[in-house]
Amino acid sequence: MCGIVAYIGHQQAREVLVEGLKRLEYRGYDSSGIAILDSKAYLAKAVGKVGVLEKRVWKDQPRGVVGIAHTRWATHGKPTEANAHPHQDCSGKIFLVHNGIIENYQALKKHLTAAGHKFQSETDTEVLAHLIENAYRGDLGSAVQKALLQVQGTYGIAVLHTAHLDQIIVARRGSPTVLGAGNNESRAASDVSALAQHTDRVVYLEDNEMASENASRGRLNHSEGVAKLGGLESVHDRLLQARHLIIVSCGSSYYAGLFGRYVVETLTDLTVETELASEFRYRKLNLRQNTVVLAISQSGETADTLAALREAKRKGALVLGLVNVVGSTIARETPAGVYTHAGIEVGVASTKSFVSQLTILTLIALLLGRSRDLSIEEGSLLLRGLEKIPDQIREILAQSDDIRKLAQKYCDARHFLYIGRKYQYPVALEGALKLKEIAYIHAEGYAAGEMKHGPIALIDPSFPTMAIVPEDGSYEKIVSNIQEIRAREGRVIAVTSVGNKKLENLADDVIFVPKSHEILTPILTVVPLQLFAYHCAVLRGCDVDKPRNLAKSVTVE
Ligand code: AGP
Repeated sequence: MCGIVAYIGHQQAREVLVEGLKRLEYRGYDSSGIAILDSKAYLAKAVGKVGVLEKRVWKDQPRGVVGIAHTRWATHGKPTEANAHPHQDCSGKIFLVHNGIIENYQALKKHLTAAGHKFQSETDTEVLAHLIENAYRGDLGSAVQKALLQVQGTYGIAVLHTAHLDQIIVARRGSPTVLGAGNNESRAASDVSALAQHTDRVVYLEDNEMASENASRGRLNHSEGVAKLGGLESVHDRLLQARHLIIVSCGSSYYAGLFGRYVVETLTDLTVETELASEFRYRKLNLRQNTVVLAISQSGETADTLAALREAKRKGALVLGLVNVVGSTIARETPAGVYTHAGIEVGVASTKSFVSQLTILTLIALLLGRSRDLSIEEGSLLLRGLEKIPDQIREILAQSDDIRKLAQKYCDARHFLYIGRKYQYPVALEGALKLKEIAYIHAEGYAAGEMKHGPIALIDPSFPTMAIVPEDGSYEKIVSNIQEIRAREGRVIAVTSVGNKKLENLADDVIFVPKSHEILTPILTVVPLQLFAYHCAVLRGCDVDKPRNLAKSVTVE
């Protein structure tokens, strides 16, 4: 009888996990262990009571907001550090804790050893880590599912992978496993006593059920068609009074803010402005009553965004943060806000954090809209669409090879034009920025309606256009823009909705994205543009993660 505990959220996982282990210690105390993921993975194990591990963890002070821990009652193998959980695969990327017994572990171990896997322990548990490694093709959830199909016996498991800092997979057969969610964090444990203080919502996992506990899922309240954003609860009354929203940010976060303007205006009655933080900070601010200023920043440290925020605060506005890095300066200097929980973004170019910003801005708009006159039906429709987004993004990522072929065809272009309308206009800007910053190809993002006011003069066979044209309310208008470009012998790549055959005759090349609600489509259309820039960069021999002259966090003006 062992105890497992898992945590993903915004607090430092070490404290939550050690506290959870202490509550589970009655289940076994031969040895214990903990794994916490951050830019580096932390693993510590200790023989004896949880207190021994606790001392080591306090000394090491590992950082990270996602982790798993285990207290062991030995069944297979002595109580040693090698036999203590978490166990790992050969690559060292997978971490797993287990409560239960894998009955066919000897046969599985023999088979895995013959296939070249190296085992570090005498436990039955370790085979699970290697089975998952074998089945892993980029999707941790399906790898765990495939691995568990080969297993006889009982289990409650929690699994981490260093490539999925925003995800814990939990599964159960025969061994009790409880999930708890609340305040933008999720927990799992083999006993409710490890969760009770921290959550008002507890779910008992049934046999053969699996849960993937990422932070955004707990934010969708389907029964009321609204988003649940714990970080905004303390300012709920002031948000009800809000009449004006000003979004301030830089770079990609600014483009996310432009999207935020469209979506908040559509779902609420607020007036919305989106401003470059570097300009906003030097304007004479005549803020009206009931103005909310939202700062968007991946790093939470951008100097201009921070200065704009401080100025708005000084002038009496309610200031909020939408940031990715937990505990960053913007997070600390705002009385309320929302974390994007995109996980650590290592590359300089904003990619997954941009996608998460669009997602959270939609949730914020939904929250503001539902406390005004947005109907439950409209809210639920958006939530149902949001739930499909992860799988739809996976479908787009599966087209990576086709997009690489397109990049091969176009990566020698010296200039590129990106066009979109309404919700797709910020996507055009972001796609062009990606191509500039990582592939060093000059690219202009334009609102398609502006073509005739100047940029169409540039069009010739050497100047291709990326047109973002899903089948939404602006579709016919942007098709006309494409026709105008083709009439001037311009080459066009169209990003459109799957099943739209009409563009195949008009555009030179077409990239298809799954159909979604008009408001949510930018979360999808930006992904092929990120892939296109990535492949162009690789083909041109650029350093994708560390593009020249740039820094991940711009902490000077
Ligand atoms: C995007 O790919 C950039 N590297 C850059 O434009 C970035 O979005 C900008 O510097 C703002 O950073 P922040 O989100 O951390 O505030």
